[in-house]
Amino acid sequence: MSIILLLCSCLATTSSFYRVDGIPAISRNEDLEMERQLKLINKTPIKSIQTEHGFIVDCIDIKKQLAFDHPLLKNHKLQRKPSFQYQKQTKKTYSSLIRSAKIGLDEKDECPRGTVPVRRTTKTDLIRAKQLSNNTHILPQDNPGTHIAEVSLIKNNSEPYYGVSGTVSVYSPKAVNNQMSSGNIWVQKGEAGGLNKIYVGWQVFPQLYGDERTYFYTSWTADNFNKTGCYNLQCAGFVQTDRRITLGSPVAGTSEYGGQQSEMTISIAQDAKTSNWWLRTQNIDVGYFPASLFTNLASAELVGWGGRTVAPVNGPSPPMGSGYFPDDNFVHADYFRQITFKNESRIDYVPGYRGESYTDIPNCFGAKYYHPDEHSFYGYALQFGGPGGNCGI
Ligand SMILES: *[C@@H]1O[C@H](CO)[C@@H](O)[C@H](O)[C@H]1NC(C)=O
Ligand SMILES: *[C@@H]1O[C@H](CO)[C@@H](O)[C@H](O)[C@H]1NC(C)=O
Ligand SMILES: *[C@@H]1O[C@H](CO)[C@@H](O)[C@H](O)[C@H]1NC(C)=O
Ligand SMILES: *[C@@H]1O[C@H](CO)[C@@H](O)[C@H](O)[C@H]1NC(C)=O
Repeated sequence: MSIILLLCSCLATTSSFYRVDGIPAISRNEDLEMERQLKLINKTPIKSIQTEHGFIVDCIDIKKQLAFDHPLLKNHKLQRKPSFQYQKQTKKTYSSLIRSAKIGLDEKDECPRGTVPVRRTTKTDLIRAKQLSNNTHILPQDNPGTHIAEVSLIKNNSEPYYGVSGTVSVYSPKAVNNQMSSGNIWVQKGEAGGLNKIYVGWQVFPQLYGDERTYFYTSWTADNFNKTGCYNLQCAGFVQTDRRITLGSPVAGTSEYGGQQSEMTISIAQDAKTSNWWLRTQNIDVGYFPASLFTNLASAELVGWGGRTVAPVNGPSPPMGSGYFPDDNFVHADYFRQITFKNESRIDYVPGYRGESYTDIPNCFGAKYYHPDEHSFYGYALQFGGPGGNCGI
């Protein structure tokens, strides 16, 4: 093993090619270009933390973060906190089998005041990101290879939406290479190339993260991922404000079928004063997507909750959620509970008759909408997921 490694590094230095962690050789020019890009992406840290997860988190001056390189954010005024209050969630303990998922840095490791945690981008990350951008099917809506099982609100042109939230059980479905499996909420507006969208949730996506763990993630676009948008902080856009939660950090401890459930409460809500879209998880305001990034997201026309998988066209789909179909047992299939939305009143409402379940491929994935007593532990809820496999396109 070590001999092979040695041989490789000899070859690498004697030719004009370099190797980065088992990824195909790159030319010296490409290498220099990557060095240049890394200098632009990785801002000078105030402090660096080697995490137990195997990557470095840099604490960056909040005013110097990557977002502010975006041409549309030249004159952006940093918003440090949402100007609205979230409704108090009554904390109900239902069962010792339910716990809160842990995301981000330990309290003792949080970044110093005035700085925000950013996962440091490496050459390997860049190479994987490049291969990903070649895979143009990965991000856009409704492409072949993409499957969904979800509940969304019925579209009502006379009722714009301003927020969505829910508590999801976080699983680690087996997705490999360029397969992706996620549980998320979203807000969106527009059709085809005019689609503006924000997702927040968890995902397994080896080609993006380099391993098969489950990550807390967000993504955004203002044109159905044609020229704008990306995952996490891979491009300028999201403005981070919290000192502990890092976008693209692994969820420690995921749910087990029939056993312990690991939950994450997530929300996307528009600030009525600034029109920025704030992300919140586990009662922490992580940061926001500035209103100016979008072409038509002054309000949303659709919001929803559920799962999404992506696989190469004609290849098998990974499992979604726990890998099991909805069956009315909330420790079997994955779920979202206490789902709510905001309309113009900016109050949290339960979806009621407005909620509608949908799956594009019922032989592989299911979604089932539940409306029990809204004051119960689960409230308005859904189960989603399934085994995947050869689903067709
Ligand atoms: C991306 O695709 C182009 C054209 O198909 C190819 O030349 C290039 O090597 C690919 N890049 C990566 C990083 O896979
Ligand atoms: C659409 O929204 C309007 C305004 O809130 C409401 O009066 C109407 O009942 C809604 N229509 C449907 C089909 O939900
Ligand atoms: C992407 O944007 C370009 C113009 O910027 C446009 O010509 C092209 O049709 C768009 N592609 C898609 C798939 O929307
Ligand atoms: C928001 O939704 C609630 C619940 O359906 C409804 O009673 C209220 O009229 C709506 N408000 C607006 C401004 O649409």
